[in-house]
Amino acid sequence: MTEFPQKPILLTGASGNLGRMLAKALATEGFALKLTDIAPFPDPLPAGASFTRVDLNDGVALLRLAEGCGTILHFGGVSVERPFEEVLGPNIRGLYHVYEAARREGARVVFASSNHSIGFHERSETIDADCDFLPDGYYGLSKAYGELMGRMYWHKHGVESVFIRIGSAIPEPVDARMLASWLSFPDLARLIVRTVVTETLGGCRVIWGASANERMTWWGKDGREQLGWAPRDSADGFAGQLAGKVSGDPVTERYMGGAYCAIEYSRKD
Ligand SMILES: NC(=O)c1ccc[n+]([C@@H]2O[C@H](COP(=O)([O-])OP(=O)(O)OC[C@H]3O[C@@H](n4cnc5c(N)ncnc54)[C@H](O)[C@@H]3O)[C@@H](O)[C@H]2O)c1
Repeated sequence: MTEFPQKPILLTGASGNLGRMLAKALATEGFALKLTDIAPFPDPLPAGASFTRVDLNDGVALLRLAEGCGTILHFGGVSVERPFEEVLGPNIRGLYHVYEAARREGARVVFASSNHSIGFHERSETIDADCDFLPDGYYGLSKAYGELMGRMYWHKHGVESVFIRIGSAIPEPVDARMLASWLSFPDLARLIVRTVVTETLGGCRVIWGASANERMTWWGKDGREQLGWAPRDSADGFAGQLAGKVSGDPVTERYMGGAYCAIEYSRKD
């Protein structure tokens, strides 16, 4: 049980893979939750939680739902590479609705950004959180846009944000790339608790969303110290079984974004 007095948390994307896990984990910690998604919530509602079905494209409904909330955990939207027109509504317009709600409520935004916002960095590099955005598709581009929108809302309106550039948040790593990119569910849940209970950020913070994967590390400095978060799990123990699980595709293997970089890749040189 977390001791810090809290306003309710709004969690978008609650019916998705990470949303369901976080709803459960945060309810166990005693947080009051307003869950939302365009899809019905598939699990029994956790204690202290309500669920409202809202499309992120509906700004008025989102404003209403965010009333009284102190944090918006924004995990909703298109979560894989899709054509631009499919990404546009949920990930760009929806994001604007989230930030307008945060501005009105004086709430903090915790944005599920992605490694695909920097996917065209080469795996031979180690990059810090202030590296260039190098999105590897329309999805990654929407995440870079989200981080920039958050910065604009801080400088113009004082809305604090945490941008978590999530690597691969799944129960267990399944290929060689995830020896670097894997983020365990418990590490993510602990990080989210820190983003909620840390009193003042004084701006926007970027966090590399990966566990303590020391055998293969692409990502360096970030804002974790201020949040008091350090990952406890690691993909290292999976190296024996996964090190050989590579795609064989040169574009996929060269860049951090992996297979997303290779989607419709048409560069000749
Ligand atoms: N799982 C990962 O490894 C990973 C990696 C990087 C980033 N992320 C980000 O984390 C977030 C959650 O990821 P996930 O794996 O749970 O994805 P997911 O696809 O399981 O969940 C996304 C949820 O958003 C909802 N959604 C889509 N369009 C919507 C709309 N118009 N209005 C309201 N809700 C809508 C979907 O119904 C779904 O439940 C996403 O933003 C994703 O981009 C996840």
